[in-house]
Amino acid sequence: MNHGTDVSYMKELHSDSPLSTMIELHSGVRITYMLQAVAELGVADRLIDGPLPVDELAERTGSDADALYRVLRALAGKGVFTEVSRRVFGLTSLAEVLRSDHPNSLRDAFHMHGQKFMHDAYVEIGHTIRTGQPAFEHVNGTTLFDYVAQRPELQGLFGKSMGKANRQIQLAATETYDLTGVKTLVAVGGAQGHVLAEILTRYPGMRGVYIDNPRMVPAAEGVLSAAGVLESAELIGGDYLEAVPSGGDVYLVSHVLHQLSDADTVTVLRNIRQVMAENSRVLVVNAVIPEGDVPHPTKILDSTMLVLGRSRDRTEAEFAEVLREAGLRLVDTVGRALPSSVVVAEPFGGADHV
Ligand SMILES: C[S@@+](CC[C@H](N)C(=O)[O-])C[C@H]1O[C@@H](n2cnc3c(N)ncnc32)[C@H](O)[C@@H]1O
Repeated sequence: MNHGTDVSYMKELHSDSPLSTMIELHSGVRITYMLQAVAELGVADRLIDGPLPVDELAERTGSDADALYRVLRALAGKGVFTEVSRRVFGLTSLAEVLRSDHPNSLRDAFHMHGQKFMHDAYVEIGHTIRTGQPAFEHVNGTTLFDYVAQRPELQGLFGKSMGKANRQIQLAATETYDLTGVKTLVAVGGAQGHVLAEILTRYPGMRGVYIDNPRMVPAAEGVLSAAGVLESAELIGGDYLEAVPSGGDVYLVSHVLHQLSDADTVTVLRNIRQVMAENSRVLVVNAVIPEGDVPHPTKILDSTMLVLGRSRDRTEAEFAEVLREAGLRLVDTVGRALPSSVVVAEPFGGADHV
């Protein structure tokens, strides 16, 4: 037996070796499955008042105590939950994010992505790589949005999981840009109006104009009304590929362009360019993918979207190009490290625009 070889193999397993890093990456999907399962069981919610013995947790979540113990022990090794004394688990700052009442809760997102029809699509990413087509449609026979639309039991979870995380990301981005002094903000593709409601609340005196598909308007009315800012807003049902409302000194295009082809993106931006004043600005809130090997949450999200649908994220240079085609100049990108940034654009002067 060659002990020398055995020892060198073991040395390869020290925590920052390439081998151990690859083993870590290899186990990533299984850690995700464990997190999805405990999110669905609501384990973190049960620990809000303090640590509990695993037998009690198992009883409260309808689980097998030994299996739950082994999963929580594995997760505690990753810093999610902590075994405060033998077989007694409590929350850590990571586990807090799985609480339903956490302001940035990921519980619904874990739960949603843990659904079998989502797993089935991710497993087939090879199909997407080979064909360039979304594996979701290949596996489930329809688009993600239609799949959910046909299943009322999924709609609540889908709305909560996508909606909440998306809203938080958009708000974090808009907070990096000072809107003081803006008189009229036009929200292009304003959806349920959550982001507009937040901005109008933060900047009293600002007027908000909104355009989205007419079927979205009643929901937005409800959200703006609940926030007490409906009086400051004008809601327009329309098609942003046809025209957008005039009169904004800021045009907010938040989480819209990644869902559109380059041609449609240029159409929306051109429609804005046509009605905006020379001193007004377009704020595109979207993930901006850094060039090169720089890690960024969006790189994973963009490849997720490749499997799930047809949206794609852009680099700053790609944004500059579609803006240029629409007669706009990219002047700044704010909040680059965030999942979504604010790309700021202004009209090219008539003479500059080639
Ligand atoms: C992901 S949402 C954008 C999120 C939104 N900005 C917010 O504040 O939460 C995209 C929105 O674009 C809207 N949309 C899609 N196509 C449209 C079109 N041709 N004209 C107007 N709105 C459209 C959708 O109805 C949806 O509400």
